[in-house]
Amino acid sequence: MKLPETQVAVLEAASADDPTPVEQIAEETGEQVQAVAGAAFELEAQGLLAVTERTDAELVLTEEGDDYAYDGLPEHSLWVGGLSNDAVDEPIELGQAIGRGGLEDEQVEIALSNFARKGMGTIDSGSIQVDPDFDLEADAERTLLEVLRGEEGEIAPDEADEEAVASLERRGLVEREESTVREVTLTDEGVTAMMEGIEVAETVGQITPELLTSGEWEAVEFAEYNVQADAETVHGGKPHALREMSERVTDVLVGMGFEEMQGPHVDADFYINDCLFMPQDHPARNHWDRFALEEPAAIDREHLPPDLVDRVEAAHRDGVGPDGEGYHSPWDEDFARALALRGHTTNLSVRHLAGLAEGDLEPPQRYFSIEKAYRNDTLDSTHLLEFFQIEGWVMAEDLSVRDLMGTFTEFYEQFGITDIQFKPHYNPYTEPSFELFGRHPETDELIEIGNSGIFRPEMLEPLGVEADVMAWGLALERLFMLATGAEDIRDVHGTLVDLEFLRNEEVVY
Ligand code: PHE
Repeated sequence: MKLPETQVAVLEAASADDPTPVEQIAEETGEQVQAVAGAAFELEAQGLLAVTERTDAELVLTEEGDDYAYDGLPEHSLWVGGLSNDAVDEPIELGQAIGRGGLEDEQVEIALSNFARKGMGTIDSGSIQVDPDFDLEADAERTLLEVLRGEEGEIAPDEADEEAVASLERRGLVEREESTVREVTLTDEGVTAMMEGIEVAETVGQITPELLTSGEWEAVEFAEYNVQADAETVHGGKPHALREMSERVTDVLVGMGFEEMQGPHVDADFYINDCLFMPQDHPARNHWDRFALEEPAAIDREHLPPDLVDRVEAAHRDGVGPDGEGYHSPWDEDFARALALRGHTTNLSVRHLAGLAEGDLEPPQRYFSIEKAYRNDTLDSTHLLEFFQIEGWVMAEDLSVRDLMGTFTEFYEQFGITDIQFKPHYNPYTEPSFELFGRHPETDELIEIGNSGIFRPEMLEPLGVEADVMAWGLALERLFMLATGAEDIRDVHGTLVDLEFLRNEEVVY
């Protein structure tokens, strides 16, 4: 007779007289318990083996029982505490005995009731008299705890002192653990088969027509599938986490009544700076943190509306209104025509407010964009050369700082950020101005998340806007860091991107 290897091993380990536990066979043969049990059931189906099952109960210590097995039962500690007195047959104060016994507050109650139950002495109105003849060593509860504490640790309930088991179970110091034991015994058929001789069948990985037609398949052992083998991981495509964040911001702002703006990445300085009442000698305008265009280097003169140019120039020179103050510095239209990658997306706000994008706008209006801005910053964990700015503005009659703060509070709450801080700031184009800060959930650092304010008349009047306008530029990447706990923006985009992070990061909608 030919049988698979494991089955042969099980038959050889089994006996006709004594039932053998499956675990024991597994240990002897070096097979998995599961594999031995599987082989046993197949042998049983062939009538070579009998498999029986029974439930075994064992006593084990609970966590509390384990403590007492080491430290002693509380009533014993109380007894010892009451005994450590010179005249042992004199009662002592209960509090003193408790202190000497080293009892914890929550053990006092337990100690007192068991002390009384076991007749270890008498307790009477605040004093205790221990029975000096009480034999701790003979306490069956203590003996049982010590047996269970020992290396073997396990004892069947019916082998232990019945009363002690009942009492310790009631006290929650021991419990029963049940387990199923499978045992196998050779049948007469099995014994006969063994005497006739059993060989190990070869293992076959793949079934072939020859195996089937020859009938050999009946005798061979088929290799088992290893369903736990490592398989290659297939990563599906998914939108970039920052893109998901941007879409979520769009949903939130649209939900708050905002419309989306779009506009050029490369724009004339006129729209990026001059229309924002940024003086032409402002450091940021000459500075190398601006990405200037070489070819074409400037917008053609006829592409700037002449009357808008005149009004902006007048505001720069003389300010607006009867008491207006300008910059008293030169203003040059050619300088304003220079082209650059926008350093903020406020050029889009300007174009919309000036009526150049959607025509003249009457209040109330709400607009936003989530678009790239470009700055020649030094790269670090919070700065990249380009970032997404969440630009936004609200045009209405009579806006105040409370409207601005309320809008941010409502906006950031949608992302679970409830502790933003406002700090006074300066922008040439807003008064008052505020920088926004948020606390990073991982590093606990305050990081700048945006800049905002109420546009000045020097900016709005030349654009032809009569109502109030509050506006802001928030960094999408910084919001992302606060909302997801990302610590380094270079993990999210750029050459050092952390693929694992992007694969696993969920921007919850
Ligand atoms: N342009 C500002 C920046 O990039 C943001 C801002 C927009 C501030 C509108 C106030 C008003 O920091």
